[in-house]
Amino acid sequence: MSTVWDFRARFYDVCEASDLRRGSSKKALFRDMRGRILFVGVGTGMDIPHFPAGRTIVGIDISEKMLRKARPRARAYSGRMVLLRADAQNLKFPDNSFDTLVTSCTMCSVPDPVRAFREYHRVLRPGGRLLMFEHVRSRNCLLGLSLDMMTLWTRLSGTEMNRDTVSNARTAGFRITSIASVFLDIILSVRATKGATTQNESPTLPSNSVHPSPFTP
Ligand SMILES: C[S@@+](CC[C@H](N)C(=O)[O-])C[C@H]1O[C@@H](n2cnc3c(N)ncnc32)[C@H](O)[C@@H]1O
Repeated sequence: MSTVWDFRARFYDVCEASDLRRGSSKKALFRDMRGRILFVGVGTGMDIPHFPAGRTIVGIDISEKMLRKARPRARAYSGRMVLLRADAQNLKFPDNSFDTLVTSCTMCSVPDPVRAFREYHRVLRPGGRLLMFEHVRSRNCLLGLSLDMMTLWTRLSGTEMNRDTVSNARTAGFRITSIASVFLDIILSVRATKGATTQNESPTLPSNSVHPSPFTP
C-alpha cells in the first residue's frame, strides 16, 4: 500500500493546493489537540500550518516519500513534531499512550479502517479524544451512488470515496460526541472519545440531508 502513496507523494502538493482543503474548518477542529498527540496519515504535512502553536505531536504515515516532504514543514512548526513511518493498522505504541488522536482525509485510504480504529482506541487513554476531518459516503441516494461510482477508479490510487467512517469508528468502540458538516454530508468534522456510549447519545447528521448542518448533541 505504501507504493501508491510513495508514487502520489511526487504530485500530492500540486494536486491538493486548492481552497477545497478547507483550512479554516481544520483549524477549528485541530484547536482541540491537547496533551500527547498522535496525527495519523500526516502525508506531505500540508495540514501542519493549521495546527495550534506549541503542541508536542507524533505524526505517522505509511509512505516514506510523503514523510520526506513533510519533514521541512514539521521543522518549521512552532511546537515539537516527530515524524515516523508506521502503519495505522498496526501501531507500535503501548496502550493508553496518547491524549488526542487526529486524522485528516486518511480514513478513506487506510485499507482496513475498523482495524485502524481499534488501534486508535487501544493507544488512546480512557477519555482520550479522536478528532477527524474526513470525507464519507453521502446518505443522499444520487450523491451516494455517484461516490460509489467514483470509488471504482479512485481506489486504484488508494482512496475510497464511499466509506462510512463514523460507523467504523463506532464499531471500534468510540463514542461519537459531535458531527459537523463541512460540505453537505460528505466532508465531516467529527469528534469522538474513548468511553462508554450512554443511551440517547448517538449523534448523526439528519437522514437524507445534503445541506450543511452543524450538529452537536
Ligand atoms: C489522502 S492522504 C492525506 C494526507 C494528509 N492528511 C492531508 O490531508 O494532506 C492519505 C494519507 O494516508 C496515508 N496512509 C494510507 N494508508 C496508511 C496506513 N495504513 N497507515 C498510515 N498512513 C497511511 C497515505 O500515505 C497518505 O499520506
